[in-house]
Amino acid sequence: MRSEHATPVRPQEQGSAGSAAAVAHPNIALIKYWGKRDEQLILPRTDSLSMTLDIFPTTTRVRLAPGASNDDVTFNGVPATGEAHRRVIAFLELVRERAGLPHRAVVETENTVPTGAGLASSASGFAALAVAAAGAYGLDPDATALSRLARRGSGSASRSVFAGFAVWHAGRGTGTDADLCSYAEPVPVADLDPALVVAVVNAGPKAVSSREAMRRTVDTSPLYGAWADSSGDDLAEMRTALRLGDLDAVGEIAERNAFGMHATMLAARPAVRYLSSATLTVLDRVLQLRRDGVPAYATMDAGPNVKVLCHRADADRVAEAVRRAVPDGAAHVAGPGPGARLLNEDGR
Ligand code: PMV
Repeated sequence: MRSEHATPVRPQEQGSAGSAAAVAHPNIALIKYWGKRDEQLILPRTDSLSMTLDIFPTTTRVRLAPGASNDDVTFNGVPATGEAHRRVIAFLELVRERAGLPHRAVVETENTVPTGAGLASSASGFAALAVAAAGAYGLDPDATALSRLARRGSGSASRSVFAGFAVWHAGRGTGTDADLCSYAEPVPVADLDPALVVAVVNAGPKAVSSREAMRRTVDTSPLYGAWADSSGDDLAEMRTALRLGDLDAVGEIAERNAFGMHATMLAARPAVRYLSSATLTVLDRVLQLRRDGVPAYATMDAGPNVKVLCHRADADRVAEAVRRAVPDGAAHVAGPGPGARLLNEDGR
């Protein structure tokens, strides 16, 4: 993969005023975001780095509804409820404040990723919403401002604004600088032909939200500080490995960073355990693949599913091994995907 693949993607075309549609893809962190320093602004404690995928897009249309007294939000045709509904409304309030427009909106989202299963549906969801809402309300943010805006919906969404590999800076600013200093940007990578095999062992919603799990980990886990410190070193090494196109090093660093993140949660009080027996079965299979000479490395997020980093040329073999290990599960092969963008009138 060439570095220009990771160039920031600014929306190519503006949506017609009052209505805009956008598409965004999930991203998987190779250096994790785990823990906030500011819950309101969604500022992380550590920098993180991810790969945007080319599967599971989210498409969102936002249409202003002057005169309406409420926002109308649907996910896959079903009215949004509860926490998901509250977060979209809070996000629209932020956009309205920035645009200086009072109008409510109709928001229609089509998600192709299983929601709430640690498969980053909030990343693609809020990246698509940020682009579509900015278009509909007549804002014209550059890629950095768009990343900061998406961050306010869900932290990991800041990275889905960009194609390929992106780093999200935690930022150190306080006061009025706090919001400005935390955004994602593309990371240069050398020729690397990576794939992430997404092993879905359970597509149901998770028992503990990542928001709650992060808070509990930061507040109670004696391991959190040690992981956060070592994650900074992991990031520096990861950048070097990506620049050199060294997939083995990228995989080793990603795997240890993810295991470390899960160790912090297991030590939280009470513990947060997302890993299931099926997760461990896949992790064993990944080790076996390595013993058989196939470079394959695992990472896991706030759920039991495993994402396996490997060479594109090995992806089908890795996916097949995962399917055999967990016959009830599924394996999807993803490559580096595009950044968030506006769609034109024909939905393209
Ligand atoms: O952005 P959130 O609140 O969905 O948190 C995502 C956290 C992890 O997926 C576990 C790690 C990451 O960096 O994406």
